[in-house]
Amino acid sequence: MSPSSQLADLLSGPVVVLTGAGVSAESGVPTFRGSGGLWRSYRATDLATPTAFARDPRLVWKFYSWRRELVAACRPNPAHKTLAQMERRLPDFTLITQNVDGLHQAAGSQRVVELHGSLWRVRCTRCSYQAEDRRVPLPQLPPRCPRCEGLLRPDVVWFGEALPQGVLEQAWAAAGRASVMLVVGTSAVVEPAASLPRLAKARGAYLIEINPEETPLSPYADEVIREPAGQALPAWWQQINLSSSQSVL
Ligand code: APR
Repeated sequence: MSPSSQLADLLSGPVVVLTGAGVSAESGVPTFRGSGGLWRSYRATDLATPTAFARDPRLVWKFYSWRRELVAACRPNPAHKTLAQMERRLPDFTLITQNVDGLHQAAGSQRVVELHGSLWRVRCTRCSYQAEDRRVPLPQLPPRCPRCEGLLRPDVVWFGEALPQGVLEQAWAAAGRASVMLVVGTSAVVEPAASLPRLAKARGAYLIEINPEETPLSPYADEVIREPAGQALPAWWQQINLSSSQSVL
């Protein structure tokens, strides 16, 4: 069978997608490590660690407030929209993202496993308060908890922090049973996310990487599409639909 019709059959099994910053690049959201990446301009250790926040919460919040304002002006691109359509059409689909920009949800994805939290949620450093907060700009930096007046922090995972309870288990479980795993727009260097495709591959998944650049994952992939996600993903999905022998798509 040709790969795409074979693939169409595989897509009737569990399909898992892992996305990174590259899936939002064509929406205008800066990546972290590529050219123009955030960590090329800022030191992550000054802005995205619990120590940095304890040292200067206002500086950290100015960085996140800037990111919130930037992302608020960005719209989902065809890659995000294709993933939302895949969720609607495929019988067993899991989207796992490292991104905190909320663009998957903005594109219509209903179930998103957010490994690293969200720019659009805040949580109190003193009490259990947490909430979605989409105000741009925020009324004050750093924002205060409406319940206890404690410092609010972005509900994102900083370097050195554990991932949200249950989220990583959910991602491991999905990767471990995948028949196909697409890895879209990630440099595949940050753990534990970077191990998910390797687990899927080890358990027999067909692994596809969509990324204009080579990554440490590339040698493990069964298929590498060296193109931007906003072009590659819609084209790939259309090709699968055209060649599919089933109506699953
Ligand atoms: N389409 C697909 N991939 C792209 C595109 C595009 N249009 N543009 C860039 N890329 C690729 C780059 O080649 C790179 O491999 O996206 C990847 C982005 O890598 P990073 O900037 O390292 O982002 P990511 O892999 O998501 O980082 C993981 O690191 O800083 C932490 O918490 C942060 O979630 C982030 C994690």
